[in-house]
Amino acid sequence: MSKKIFSGVQPTGNLHLGNYIGAIRNFVDLQNEDQNECIYCVVDLHALTTKQDPVALKKNIRETTAAFLASGLDYKKSIIFNQSLVKSHSEGSWLLSCVARMGWLNRMTQFKEKAGKDKEKASVGLYIYPVLMAADILLYDTTHVPVGEDQKQHLELCRDIAQKFNLDFKAPNFLRVPEPLIKKNFSRIMSLKDGTKKMSKSDPSDFSRINLNDDKDSIVSKIKKAKTDNHPLPENQEELKKRPEAENLFGIYSSLNNQDLTKTLNEFSGRNFSEFKNKLSDLLIEKLSPVSQKMKNIQKDSKYIDDVLKEGAERANAIASKKVDEMKKIVGF
Ligand code: TYM
Repeated sequence: MSKKIFSGVQPTGNLHLGNYIGAIRNFVDLQNEDQNECIYCVVDLHALTTKQDPVALKKNIRETTAAFLASGLDYKKSIIFNQSLVKSHSEGSWLLSCVARMGWLNRMTQFKEKAGKDKEKASVGLYIYPVLMAADILLYDTTHVPVGEDQKQHLELCRDIAQKFNLDFKAPNFLRVPEPLIKKNFSRIMSLKDGTKKMSKSDPSDFSRINLNDDKDSIVSKIKKAKTDNHPLPENQEELKKRPEAENLFGIYSSLNNQDLTKTLNEFSGRNFSEFKNKLSDLLIEKLSPVSQKMKNIQKDSKYIDDVLKEGAERANAIASKKVDEMKKIVGF
Protein backbone atom coordinates (compact mmCIF):
# COMPACT_ATOMS: atom_id res chain seq x y z
CA MET A 1 0.00 0.00 0.00
CA SER A 2 1.35 3.43 -0.83
CA LYS A 3 1.92 5.71 2.13
CA LYS A 4 1.81 9.47 2.49
CA ILE A 5 4.83 10.33 4.58
CA PHE A 6 5.54 13.60 6.39
CA SER A 7 8.36 14.36 8.78
CA GLY A 8 10.47 17.29 9.91
CA VAL A 9 13.79 18.20 11.49
CA GLN A 10 14.60 21.43 13.31
CA PRO A 11 17.42 23.51 11.86
CA THR A 12 19.05 24.23 15.20
CA GLY A 13 22.58 23.11 14.32
CA ASN A 14 24.54 20.09 15.56
CA LEU A 15 22.62 17.44 13.61
CA HIS A 16 23.74 14.21 15.23
CA LEU A 17 23.75 10.45 15.01
CA GLY A 18 20.38 10.28 16.83
CA ASN A 19 18.76 12.43 14.15
CA TYR A 20 20.39 10.25 11.50
CA ILE A 21 19.50 6.81 12.88
CA GLY A 22 16.17 7.81 14.44
CA ALA A 23 14.89 9.83 11.50
CA ILE A 24 16.84 10.87 8.38
CA ARG A 25 18.06 7.40 7.39
CA ASN A 26 14.49 6.12 7.60
CA PHE A 27 13.28 9.04 5.46
CA VAL A 28 15.58 7.78 2.70
CA ASP A 29 14.35 4.17 2.96
CA LEU A 30 10.72 5.32 2.79
CA GLN A 31 11.46 7.52 -0.21
CA ASN A 32 12.99 4.56 -2.01
CA GLU A 33 10.03 2.24 -1.38
CA ASP A 34 7.76 2.14 -4.39
CA GLN A 35 4.77 4.43 -4.51
CA ASN A 36 5.28 6.36 -1.29
CA GLU A 37 4.66 10.09 -1.46
CA CYS A 38 7.18 11.70 0.87
CA ILE A 39 7.36 15.22 2.24
CA TYR A 40 10.34 16.25 4.36
CA CYS A 41 10.38 19.62 6.04
CA VAL A 42 13.09 21.75 7.60
CA VAL A 43 10.94 23.07 10.44
CA ASP A 44 12.35 26.56 10.83
CA LEU A 45 9.23 27.93 12.57
CA HIS A 46 9.75 25.31 15.25
CA ALA A 47 13.37 26.45 15.68
CA LEU A 48 12.14 29.89 16.78
CA THR A 49 10.55 28.41 19.92
CA THR A 50 14.00 28.76 21.52
CA LYS A 51 16.31 31.74 21.06
CA GLN A 52 18.03 31.82 17.66
CA ASP A 53 20.64 34.03 16.11
CA PRO A 54 19.15 35.08 12.72
CA VAL A 55 22.42 34.63 10.83
CA ALA A 56 23.03 31.19 12.35
CA LEU A 57 19.43 30.17 11.68
CA LYS A 58 19.78 30.89 7.97
CA LYS A 59 23.00 28.85 7.87
CA ASN A 60 21.37 26.00 9.80
CA ILE A 61 18.36 25.86 7.45
CA ARG A 62 20.79 25.29 4.58
CA GLU A 63 22.89 22.84 6.61
CA THR A 64 19.86 20.69 7.50
CA THR A 65 18.76 20.69 3.86
CA ALA A 66 22.29 19.67 2.87
CA ALA A 67 22.11 16.82 5.40
CA PHE A 68 18.85 15.61 3.83
CA LEU A 69 20.35 15.66 0.35
CA ALA A 70 23.70 14.18 1.40
CA SER A 71 21.95 11.30 3.18
CA GLY A 72 20.19 10.33 -0.05
CA LEU A 73 16.96 12.31 -0.22
CA ASP A 74 16.17 13.26 -3.78
CA TYR A 75 14.25 16.50 -4.24
CA LYS A 76 12.70 15.21 -7.45
CA LYS A 77 11.22 12.17 -5.71
CA SER A 78 10.39 13.76 -2.34
CA ILE A 79 9.13 17.23 -1.55
CA ILE A 80 11.84 19.00 0.46
CA PHE A 81 11.11 22.49 1.77
CA ASN A 82 11.35 24.77 4.76
CA GLN A 83 8.23 25.40 6.80
CA SER A 84 8.32 29.22 6.83
CA LEU A 85 7.96 29.33 3.03
CA VAL A 86 4.49 27.76 3.23
CA LYS A 87 2.13 30.10 5.06
CA SER A 88 -0.57 27.46 5.55
CA HIS A 89 1.48 25.94 8.38
CA SER A 90 1.04 29.05 10.54
CA GLU A 91 -2.58 29.46 9.55
CA GLY A 92 -3.46 25.81 10.12
CA SER A 93 -1.64 25.91 13.43
CA TRP A 94 -3.88 28.75 14.66
CA LEU A 95 -7.06 26.91 13.66
CA LEU A 96 -5.87 23.80 15.48
CA SER A 97 -4.69 25.69 18.57
CA CYS A 98 -8.33 26.62 19.13
CA VAL A 99 -9.20 22.91 19.13
CA ALA A 100 -6.31 21.61 21.26
CA ARG A 101 -6.88 21.74 25.02
CA MET A 102 -4.55 23.28 27.61
CA GLY A 103 -4.79 20.08 29.63
CA TRP A 104 -3.41 18.08 26.71
CA LEU A 105 -0.44 20.42 26.24
CA ASN A 106 0.24 20.47 29.98
CA ARG A 107 1.05 16.77 29.77
CA MET A 108 3.83 17.15 27.17
CA THR A 109 7.03 15.90 28.76
CA GLN A 110 9.27 17.53 26.17
CA PHE A 111 7.95 20.99 27.13
CA LYS A 112 8.67 20.24 30.77
CA GLU A 113 12.21 19.12 29.92
CA LYS A 114 12.99 22.01 27.59
CA ALA A 115 11.38 24.71 29.73
CA GLY A 116 13.25 23.43 32.78
CA LYS A 117 12.62 24.82 36.25
CA ASP A 118 11.63 28.31 35.18
CA LYS A 119 8.78 27.58 32.83
CA GLU A 120 7.32 31.09 33.27
CA LYS A 121 10.24 32.25 31.13
CA ALA A 122 9.68 29.75 28.31
CA SER A 123 8.21 31.15 25.08
CA VAL A 124 4.52 30.63 24.35
CA GLY A 125 5.74 29.13 21.07
CA LEU A 126 7.58 26.38 22.96
CA TYR A 127 4.35 25.53 24.78
CA ILE A 128 2.17 25.29 21.68
CA TYR A 129 4.88 23.76 19.49
CA PRO A 130 3.12 20.36 19.26
CA VAL A 131 0.10 22.11 17.72
CA LEU A 132 2.27 23.52 14.92
CA MET A 133 3.65 20.01 14.49
CA ALA A 134 0.08 18.69 14.18
CA ALA A 135 -0.66 21.28 11.49
CA ASP A 136 2.48 20.22 9.58
CA ILE A 137 1.25 16.65 9.50
CA LEU A 138 -2.49 17.13 9.03
CA LEU A 139 -2.28 19.61 6.14
CA TYR A 140 -0.97 16.86 3.87
CA ASP A 141 -3.42 14.02 4.72
CA THR A 142 -0.36 12.21 6.03
CA THR A 143 -0.79 8.49 6.71
CA HIS A 144 2.60 7.81 8.36
CA VAL A 145 5.09 9.90 10.32
CA PRO A 146 8.63 8.51 10.72
CA VAL A 147 10.24 9.86 13.90
CA GLY A 148 12.47 8.86 16.81
CA GLU A 149 10.97 7.65 20.10
CA ASP A 150 11.04 11.13 21.68
CA GLN A 151 8.29 12.40 19.35
CA LYS A 152 5.78 9.67 20.23
CA GLN A 153 3.78 11.80 22.67
CA HIS A 154 3.53 14.68 20.17
CA LEU A 155 2.12 12.29 17.60
CA GLU A 156 -0.49 11.00 20.02
CA LEU A 157 -1.50 14.62 20.60
CA CYS A 158 -1.70 15.18 16.84
CA ARG A 159 -4.09 12.23 16.56
CA ASP A 160 -6.25 13.64 19.38
CA ILE A 161 -6.36 17.07 17.74
CA ALA A 162 -7.40 15.60 14.37
CA GLN A 163 -10.17 13.55 15.97
CA LYS A 164 -11.49 16.50 17.99
CA PHE A 165 -11.53 18.79 14.95
CA ASN A 166 -13.49 16.20 12.95
CA LEU A 167 -15.91 15.71 15.85
CA ASP A 168 -16.38 19.39 16.82
CA PHE A 169 -17.08 20.47 13.25
CA LYS A 170 -19.04 17.36 12.28
CA ALA A 171 -16.57 16.62 9.50
CA PRO A 172 -15.97 12.88 9.84
CA ASN A 173 -12.59 11.74 8.46
CA PHE A 174 -11.77 15.24 7.16
CA LEU A 175 -8.45 15.38 8.97
CA ARG A 176 -6.70 12.09 8.46
CA VAL A 177 -5.49 10.48 11.69
CA PRO A 178 -1.82 9.55 11.06
CA GLU A 179 0.15 6.54 12.29
CA PRO A 180 3.57 6.99 13.89
CA LEU A 181 6.44 5.05 12.30
CA ILE A 182 8.85 4.48 15.15
CA LYS A 183 11.37 1.68 14.68
CA LYS A 184 11.11 -1.01 17.32
CA ASN A 185 14.86 -0.99 17.83
CA PHE A 186 17.35 1.87 17.90
CA SER A 187 14.76 4.67 17.86
CA ARG A 188 16.37 6.32 20.88
CA ILE A 189 20.11 6.89 20.65
CA MET A 190 21.60 7.92 23.98
CA SER A 191 24.34 10.35 25.03
CA LEU A 192 27.91 9.04 24.83
CA LYS A 193 28.50 10.43 28.33
CA ASP A 194 25.39 9.05 30.02
CA GLY A 195 23.50 6.04 28.72
CA THR A 196 20.30 7.14 30.48
CA LYS A 197 20.10 10.52 28.70
CA LYS A 198 19.01 11.06 25.09
CA MET A 199 21.68 12.18 22.60
CA SER A 200 20.72 15.78 22.00
CA LYS A 201 21.69 18.89 20.04
CA SER A 202 21.37 21.01 23.14
CA ASP A 203 23.74 19.04 25.40
CA PRO A 204 26.52 21.52 26.26
CA SER A 205 29.17 18.82 25.84
CA ASP A 206 30.11 18.03 22.26
CA PHE A 207 31.53 14.73 23.57
CA SER A 208 27.98 13.56 24.30
CA ARG A 209 27.19 13.15 20.61
CA ILE A 210 28.57 12.30 17.18
CA ASN A 211 27.70 15.17 14.85
CA LEU A 212 27.00 14.47 11.19
CA ASN A 213 29.84 16.80 10.24
CA ASP A 214 32.44 15.43 12.66
CA ASP A 215 35.75 14.54 11.05
CA LYS A 216 37.44 11.15 11.48
CA ASP A 217 39.67 12.25 14.37
CA SER A 218 36.72 13.63 16.34
CA ILE A 219 34.78 10.40 15.85
CA VAL A 220 37.72 8.32 17.08
CA SER A 221 38.33 10.48 20.14
CA LYS A 222 34.62 10.74 21.05
CA ILE A 223 34.20 6.96 20.90
CA LYS A 224 37.42 6.44 22.83
CA LYS A 225 36.13 8.72 25.58
CA ALA A 226 32.55 7.37 25.48
CA LYS A 227 31.48 6.21 28.93
CA THR A 228 31.56 2.44 29.55
CA ASP A 229 31.68 0.31 32.68
CA ASN A 230 34.42 -1.82 34.19
CA HIS A 231 32.93 -5.19 33.29
CA PRO A 232 33.89 -7.30 30.28
CA LEU A 233 31.70 -6.96 27.19
CA PRO A 234 28.17 -8.27 27.79
CA GLU A 235 27.38 -11.75 26.51
CA ASN A 236 23.61 -11.64 26.18
CA GLN A 237 20.65 -9.27 25.86
CA GLU A 238 19.57 -9.66 29.48
CA GLU A 239 22.95 -8.49 30.71
CA LEU A 240 22.98 -5.72 28.14
CA LYS A 241 19.69 -4.30 29.42
CA LYS A 242 21.28 -3.63 32.81
CA ARG A 243 24.19 -1.70 31.28
CA PRO A 244 22.84 1.39 29.50
CA GLU A 245 26.14 2.67 28.05
CA ALA A 246 27.08 -0.71 26.59
CA GLU A 247 23.52 -1.15 25.30
CA ASN A 248 23.69 2.20 23.51
CA LEU A 249 27.06 1.53 21.85
CA PHE A 250 25.97 -1.97 20.80
CA GLY A 251 22.73 -0.46 19.49
CA ILE A 252 24.60 2.10 17.38
CA TYR A 253 26.87 -0.61 15.97
CA SER A 254 23.96 -2.96 15.17
CA SER A 255 21.86 -0.26 13.63
CA LEU A 256 24.61 1.10 11.35
CA ASN A 257 25.48 -2.45 10.31
CA ASN A 258 21.80 -3.35 9.75
CA GLN A 259 22.03 -6.36 12.02
CA ASP A 260 20.27 -7.41 15.20
CA LEU A 261 21.77 -7.11 18.66
CA THR A 262 22.29 -10.85 19.04
CA LYS A 263 24.59 -10.91 16.03
CA THR A 264 26.65 -8.04 17.49
CA LEU A 265 26.79 -9.76 20.88
CA ASN A 266 28.08 -12.94 19.24
CA GLU A 267 30.58 -11.02 17.13
CA PHE A 268 32.23 -9.45 20.18
CA SER A 269 31.76 -12.19 22.72
CA GLY A 270 34.93 -12.65 24.80
CA ARG A 271 36.59 -9.49 23.46
CA ASN A 272 37.25 -6.26 25.34
CA PHE A 273 35.78 -2.77 25.14
CA SER A 274 38.77 -1.21 23.42
CA GLU A 275 38.59 -3.71 20.54
CA PHE A 276 34.86 -3.08 20.21
CA LYS A 277 35.33 0.69 20.31
CA ASN A 278 37.92 0.53 17.50
CA LYS A 279 35.48 -1.41 15.33
CA LEU A 280 32.68 1.00 16.20
CA SER A 281 34.80 4.03 15.23
CA ASP A 282 35.72 2.37 11.92
CA LEU A 283 32.06 1.67 11.19
CA LEU A 284 30.98 5.21 12.08
CA ILE A 285 33.67 6.65 9.82
CA GLU A 286 32.70 4.30 6.99
CA LYS A 287 29.01 5.26 7.22
CA LEU A 288 29.20 8.95 8.15
CA SER A 289 32.23 10.27 6.25
CA PRO A 290 30.56 10.05 2.84
CA VAL A 291 27.55 11.93 4.25
CA SER A 292 29.63 14.67 5.85
CA GLN A 293 31.79 15.04 2.74
CA LYS A 294 28.70 15.41 0.56
CA MET A 295 27.19 17.86 3.04
CA LYS A 296 30.31 20.03 2.77
CA ASN A 297 30.17 20.02 -1.03
CA ILE A 298 26.45 20.81 -1.17
CA GLN A 299 26.84 23.65 1.32
CA LYS A 300 29.29 25.40 -0.99
CA ASP A 301 26.37 26.22 -3.27
CA SER A 302 23.77 28.17 -1.28
CA LYS A 303 21.82 29.04 -4.41
CA TYR A 304 21.33 25.38 -5.26
CA ILE A 305 20.02 24.70 -1.75
CA ASP A 306 17.71 27.72 -1.84
CA ASP A 307 16.37 26.62 -5.24
CA VAL A 308 15.65 23.11 -3.93
CA LEU A 309 13.73 24.59 -0.99
CA LYS A 310 11.83 27.03 -3.18
CA GLU A 311 10.75 24.35 -5.63
CA GLY A 312 9.70 22.09 -2.74
CA ALA A 313 7.76 24.93 -1.13
CA GLU A 314 5.79 25.51 -4.33
CA ARG A 315 4.80 21.85 -4.47
CA ALA A 316 3.98 21.78 -0.73
CA ASN A 317 1.98 24.97 -0.96
CA ALA A 318 -0.23 23.54 -3.70
CA ILE A 319 -1.33 20.79 -1.29
CA ALA A 320 -1.37 22.64 2.03
CA SER A 321 -3.17 25.79 0.87
CA LYS A 322 -6.08 23.70 -0.46
CA LYS A 323 -6.42 21.87 2.83
CA VAL A 324 -6.31 25.02 4.92
CA ASP A 325 -8.93 26.63 2.69
CA GLU A 326 -11.20 23.64 3.31
CA MET A 327 -10.52 23.91 7.04
CA LYS A 328 -11.53 27.58 6.97
CA LYS A 329 -14.80 26.76 5.22
CA ILE A 330 -15.52 24.03 7.74
CA VAL A 331 -15.03 26.36 10.73
CA GLY A 332 -17.37 28.95 9.20
CA PHE A 333 -15.24 31.53 7.41
P1 TYM B 1 14.02 17.22 16.17
O1 TYM B 1 14.52 18.26 15.24
O2 TYM B 1 14.30 17.37 17.62
O3 TYM B 1 14.59 15.81 15.74
C1 TYM B 1 14.50 15.37 14.40
C2 TYM B 1 14.26 13.87 14.37
O4 TYM B 1 15.34 13.19 15.03
C3 TYM B 1 14.82 12.30 16.03
N1 TYM B 1 15.77 12.25 17.15
C4 TYM B 1 16.26 11.11 17.65
N2 TYM B 1 16.07 9.82 17.32
C5 TYM B 1 16.75 8.89 18.02
N3 TYM B 1 17.59 9.19 19.04
C6 TYM B 1 17.82 10.46 19.42
N4 TYM B 1 18.66 10.75 20.41
C7 TYM B 1 17.14 11.50 18.70
N5 TYM B 1 17.11 12.86 18.80
C8 TYM B 1 16.28 13.29 17.84
C9 TYM B 1 13.49 12.93 16.44
O5 TYM B 1 12.63 11.98 17.02
C10 TYM B 1 12.97 13.46 15.12
O6 TYM B 1 12.32 12.44 14.40
N6 TYM B 1 9.17 18.29 16.60
C11 TYM B 1 10.14 17.63 15.81
C12 TYM B 1 10.18 18.13 14.37
C13 TYM B 1 8.86 18.19 13.68
C14 TYM B 1 8.16 17.09 13.10
C15 TYM B 1 6.99 17.67 12.52
C16 TYM B 1 8.42 15.73 13.05
C17 TYM B 1 8.14 19.31 13.44
N7 TYM B 1 7.01 18.99 12.72
C18 TYM B 1 6.06 16.84 11.87
C19 TYM B 1 7.48 14.91 12.40
C20 TYM B 1 6.31 15.49 11.83
C21 TYM B 1 11.52 17.87 16.39
O7 TYM B 1 11.74 18.82 17.10
O8 TYM B 1 12.46 17.00 15.97
